[in-house]
Parts: sequence; structure tokens; C-alpha cells
Amino acid sequence: MKKNILKVTVGMAFAFSFASCTSQHKQINNSSSDSLLDAPISNLNYEAEIDSLINKLTLEEKSGMLHGNSKFTTAGVERLGIPALTMADGPLGIREEISRDSWEPLGWENDFATFYPAGGAVAATWNPDLAYTFGKSIGEEARDRSKDVLLAPAFNIIRTPLGGRTYEYFTEDPFLNKKLVVPYVIGVQENDVAACIKHYAVNNQETNRGTVDVNVDERTLREIYLPAFKAAVIEGNAYSVMGAYNKFRGDYLNENNYLLNDILKNEWGFEGIVISDWDAVHSTVKALKNGLDVEMGTDGPFEDYYFAKPLIKAVKGGELSEAEVDESVRRVLRVMYNIKSIDSTDRKTGSRNTKEHLEDAYKIASEAIVLLKNNEDLLPLNLEKVSKVAVIGANATRKFGLGGYGAGVKTKTEITPLEALEQKLPQNIEIEYARGYEENYVGQSENNQNHGRGTINELNLDLLEEAKLVAKDSDIVIIFAGSNRDYESEASDRKDLELPFGQVELIKQIKEVNPNTIAVLIAGAPYDLREVNSSVSTLVWSWFNGSEGGNALIDVLTGDVNPSGKLPWTMPKRLEDSPAHATKSFPGDDSVTYKEGILVGYRWFDTKNIAPLYPFGYGLSYTTFNFKNAAVDKSETYSVDDSVVITLDVENSGKRAGKEVVQVYLSKPTSRIERAAKELKGFSKVMVQPGKSEKVTIRIPISEFAFYNVEKQDWEVESGEYLLHIGNSSRNILQTISLRVD
Ligand code: BGC
Repeated sequence: MKKNILKVTVGMAFAFSFASCTSQHKQINNSSSDSLLDAPISNLNYEAEIDSLINKLTLEEKSGMLHGNSKFTTAGVERLGIPALTMADGPLGIREEISRDSWEPLGWENDFATFYPAGGAVAATWNPDLAYTFGKSIGEEARDRSKDVLLAPAFNIIRTPLGGRTYEYFTEDPFLNKKLVVPYVIGVQENDVAACIKHYAVNNQETNRGTVDVNVDERTLREIYLPAFKAAVIEGNAYSVMGAYNKFRGDYLNENNYLLNDILKNEWGFEGIVISDWDAVHSTVKALKNGLDVEMGTDGPFEDYYFAKPLIKAVKGGELSEAEVDESVRRVLRVMYNIKSIDSTDRKTGSRNTKEHLEDAYKIASEAIVLLKNNEDLLPLNLEKVSKVAVIGANATRKFGLGGYGAGVKTKTEITPLEALEQKLPQNIEIEYARGYEENYVGQSENNQNHGRGTINELNLDLLEEAKLVAKDSDIVIIFAGSNRDYESEASDRKDLELPFGQVELIKQIKEVNPNTIAVLIAGAPYDLREVNSSVSTLVWSWFNGSEGGNALIDVLTGDVNPSGKLPWTMPKRLEDSPAHATKSFPGDDSVTYKEGILVGYRWFDTKNIAPLYPFGYGLSYTTFNFKNAAVDKSETYSVDDSVVITLDVENSGKRAGKEVVQVYLSKPTSRIERAAKELKGFSKVMVQPGKSEKVTIRIPISEFAFYNVEKQDWEVESGEYLLHIGNSSRNILQTISLRVD
């Protein structure tokens, strides 16, 4: 395999190949990573400069470059013109500045940033162009704040709906994951900022995250948990990777020879830096030898970090060679040259809190909102018939930029749904707000943190009565319910799927007093919505959706935006239905074995024939679409090196322009190995005008049909018949095409 050399122009070459796919909106480029390995690689070479710098560095200076010298920087070497490496969280926007050696915010006035929609929202757009927009926009903000490394994107597979970071991660599906992560990384890095893809790897739960030993069989690892990381490295040319907290097959991720050296660095040819998650390092010699390059976030004085004094001692004592240290220093310098933080005068300078960035956040937010149910056509709102709107629920006024454990974003702009309604509804329509429920938790909070605490689910009767009165007296009721970033948070998983704070009862009672009740859920992860779903006719799903989240949501409700978001994970009816729970393999204790194997998410539901409440890939529109004339380009047998080109017409048979996501799932009717009933292998989001059709072309390399053959330690495409199921969710298949591969 040709090595993926980390050079500026490699990024440009990949960016070019991405740009050529974005310009053809209907032709999502499903190229396999292998073909991209042949992309032109530049002759620009910094290795000579790097050698010369390494020769001049003392061991102490090298060690300084390999560990934290504040919460978010390493030490530079001024006498040689080597800058510090400056990092920032994170997925939601550029985190505010904090103290050098504590998490205390500095309270600056100039560190505000745009709040971008959370990962789940990005995934729900099913739109790689918007993932690129996200990366480019947040990358510009990172540069404007003088950051070198953006600690994002975070995209571990959603294995359990309870996962505390579900809101922050993308999806349960490895294919959707990689198709979004690659353009995101390219967008970030075009700004001369390194993306730090995280958390590598199998970091799929918060419970015991610092200690749990994850056991995943090899095939599942390769087919489900690694593809997006691999694509981000090989196709996206990510400059840095964050080693996760947990263990994998007995070794911590930051000293895991198999995942760091064997797979990441040797097999995938990664030449950038492995940065530890914060305080996730447990050794000096083992960690450095096994592939960690930079240690961050360890408690205690910086000089006591594993890669500080202990590293110098290990070299002097002969446990590590200086050449091994040099290898990591070389990687740091290589990234610095690529992001032009060293020896360059033409580095991008970025921009922040601009109108354009708010527009980017708006575009992503508005394509992320999922219309789950619209049985009585209450949506879009028919404002001509409305003189009074009741707005109920804490999430009508709540902000989501900050909250919970871990990274948030201090932003100047966050439009709430109530603010947006007040701005957007005609003056003659009266809006009355009632909170309806309180967000109360059981027991005492520790350090002002609510996550991991039980919730009080009895309704406050005064608030309930007030809300009922307001609802009764209105033409239409919109309940903004769901969750928040205190309840869904890093560092703890949820205990169950219940919608907290008594909201189910509230929604039911409000619906009884006013049948024109629309429930809008703002959350980042699946909930048990069975009762809500059977109570209301109209259900909308939104996310921790960024600075413009309220505007996007109200534009969907009024019909200014036709919803086009699709669920990036399965909404189960019951927790026990989802694979990690059905197999009783969550959360484990000292260790956890992923017993469901490859059957993660809809792969499990579809293979085991378990009906979810709402399936993966599901989402309605205010218009209707028909898929017609689906065909593949060949009637003869395909060979492994071919691509299958699927064409179809997407017809908009309704009255509004709208976007639909064509989804292609693969199955293999007979196979010598276990295969999921469906695996997503291609998709394309297309805008169609009312009464018109658009031709959609989806190209899938046959190599995407492969399974990972553990004995051969290689990917293998089985010969025989395959079925391509074309639909607009994993459960709504509109046409199936058979083809043969030899
Ligand atoms: C998180 C990372 C984050 C780091 C620095 C850790 O707790 O897991 O995602 O980048 O903190 O804030």
C-alpha cells in the first residue's frame, strides 16, 4: 500500500477530489479509499528541515514538545523558532479560554465563538457538502483564535442510545460516518488548522470510560468501528488523532500497539500526531513505544507528566532511545509545517462570529431537523387560521451552547425557539408562553454538574395547570420538550430512555385540552417516545442545533424551510430492543464485550426483524417523492474492480420544493458468513422542484461490498448475487435491484 504522506498539497489534492464531488450535488462520490491512495502526492518535502531542527534540539526541549505545558498547549522552543502547539475543543465551536492549569474559564471578553450544531445534527443532514461547510467554518474560527489543532470531529459509533456523547457523535452507521467525516476534516484543514479526529477508538460509552477494557472481534472492529477513522486518515489526510480513555484488548488506547502502531501508523500510513485524550496516559515507555506522540491533560505539575521528566529519565536510563523520541518530535514538526505554524508567512488568519458563519450554522441546522410525524397536516403552520399560539416547555427558552461536562461554546448568538417565533410570526398573532415543567434532579449536584443524576419526573401542578390554561385558550400549541446538555453529557451515560422531568405526562395532558398540539423534541439522543408518539399527531425532532437553532426550527414549522433531515440512528421502541442491551453487553464492568458484533444499530433491528419506533434514515417532508426507473449500469456480472452506477429518477409529486435522501442498502441473500440484512453503501441528497423529476446517480465501488476476512486479514468480496435496496429509510425500501459479482 502506498503511504499517505502528510504534505500540504496532499490535502489540496484531496480537497480537489472532494470539491469535484460537491459540485455534482446528485453524485455523491462513493469512491473507495484505495482509489484515493493514488491521488497525486506533492514533492514538497519538509523532512530535511525537520532533520536539521531535530539535530539542534536538546532532549529536554524535545520532551517539552511532547506534553502539555498548559491545559491546551505544548511548549515551543523559542531559540529555534518552534512555536507551541495550541489546541482547542471542540465539536460545538471554539471553546472559551481557560486557565493554564485548571478548567476555570478566564472570563475574557474576546473569546466568543459561533455555536455550530452538534454532531448528531450534522449527521442528520445526510449532506457531505454541509459537513465540509461545517469544517471550513469552524476551522476559520479556530484560526481566528490562533489555534493550531481543533479537537474535532468526534465520531465514535453510536452503539447504545444511552451513550452520554451521542449528541456529540454522528451516527450508528460506518458508511454515513465516513462520508461526513472526510469532508469535515478537509474543510478544517484547508484553514491551516489540524483536525484531531477522536476518540480513537471503540470509545462508545462513558460508563467506566477511563478503565473499561473493550473487546470487539476483529471483523466488527474493521467493519463498524474503524472505517470512519481510516477514511479520515487516508482520504481526509487528518493531521492528528486523539487516543481514547478506554482500553482495547487489554491495553489502554494511548499505549495500544495494535491500534496505534500496527493499524494507524503502519497499515494506514498515518504520519501525523497521536495526541492523548486529557489525562488518559498511564505510562511513559510503553506509551511512547506503542504509538502515543503527545500527552495532554494529565493532572499534576506539567513537569511530572509521563512525557516530561519521566521521559527524560527513561532515555537517560536506556529504556527508550532518543531516536524513538525523535520520531514523535518529527511528527509534531511535520504537522507544524503542514499547518504553516512554523517557517511560513502565508498562513490563513481565519475569521469569527461573522454573518457568514451564522449562515453556515443556519444551513446545517435547517437541514438537520427531522419531521417524524405530521398526520393531520398541522405543519407547516397555517398562520392565516391562527390568532393565538401557545408555546410550552423549558426548551422554548433554553440555550445549549454550554452545559454538562466537557467542551461547550461561549457564544454571543443563540436564538431560542421562543425568540425566533416572536420575531417571525406576524404581529397580529399572539404568543403566550408557559413553562409547563421544571428541570429538577434528584440529590445534590457535584461541581454544579447534573449529568448522571436521576431526574424528578413528577410535574409541578401549578405549572401544569398554567400550561393547560394557556393551551386551551389557543388555536395551536407548540410544546418544546426534550432534553438538555446537563442531562446528556460527556462523562456519564443516561440510565434509561425515559423522557425526563414528567414531559410525557405534560404532553399527554396538553393534547387532551387542545388537539392541535405539536410536539417538538430538542435533544441529542434517542428517547422512549412511544406514549408521546401515540398521543400527538405531529412530532418534530431537533438537536442542540447551534447559534441559529431557533431560527431554523421555526422556519421548518412555518414552512419557510421544507424539512429534509433523516435520523442518523435508530429510535428504538424499548431499550431492550437495541443490540447492546438485547445482548446484555452494556456497560460491562472492568471489561465489556460487544456481543452484537457487526449487528450495530439498524443492522440489528433489520436482521432480527425488530420494529423500531422510527428507523435509521427516516424523516418526512412537506412534499412527497416517488423513486422511479431505478437501474444499474450493467446487466452482466460485475468484477471486484468495477463500480456499480445506480441511476433513478426522484419525482416530487407534491406542491413544494424539497430535498430527499436516496439511500442504497446492500444485502447478500446467500453468504458463507453472517451478514446484516442491510448495510448502507450509498446515498444522495437531492433538491427537486414540485412536479419535476431529478436524475440521481450513485456510484458504489464493488470493493464496498467486501467483508473483513479475519483469517486472511484482508477485505474480501464474495462472489454471487447481491441485492441493492433503494429507499428513503432503512425500512422503506421502494425498489430492489439484483446484481452479480464474480
Ligand atoms: C474529552 C475530549 C476533549 C478533552 C479536552 C476530554 O474530557 O474526552 O473530547 O477534547 O477533554 O477538553
